[in-house]
Amino acid sequence: MLSAQEALVLHNKVQTPENVIAHCTTVAKLARDLAGKLNRKNPEFNIDEDFVYIAGLLHDIGRSVSHGIDHGVIGARIIRTFMGDDDLAKRFARVCETHIGAGISPEEAEGLGLPAGDYIPQTIEEKLIAYADNMVEGDRVRDPEWAEERFRERFGNGLDSGGAVRRVADLNSFFKKLL
Ligand SMILES: [Fe+2]
Repeated sequence: MLSAQEALVLHNKVQTPENVIAHCTTVAKLARDLAGKLNRKNPEFNIDEDFVYIAGLLHDIGRSVSHGIDHGVIGARIIRTFMGDDDLAKRFARVCETHIGAGISPEEAEGLGLPAGDYIPQTIEEKLIAYADNMVEGDRVRDPEWAEERFRERFGNGLDSGGAVRRVADLNSFFKKLL
């Protein structure tokens, strides 16, 4: 596993802004805490807590380049550039790509001008980082209800043809049942 120190070295290499690193650190800690809780309640999940922590630290590394919706795919590109394409690098890259909202469908990706692909989180680790990220405002932890409300305000006025708000609500209820 990559160490937290190595993840921070990578952030420094690409000059990720301080506030983004602070946000990533909060998301990483929250996601790791939640992973621990989930593992205690449901040992069969066997969530990789170390992976969740480091992936949380790296999930917004693309914001060293762009704060737009493309920061997920940019982050994945940064990971591949610096870490290659071994399994671990692929898993980190996938977290970058799938963490925005509750993921981006192929149809939405096309409409947003992103490279063709399915950016919906699949593994429980990917889902957990999206879930934790949605409830962190800057470096402050809010709650799932706040996250849902924020997405509803932003996309709920008929702009949500692709179901992004519904997916955030579904992701919240998925974890609510488990936690
Ligand atoms: Fe992000």
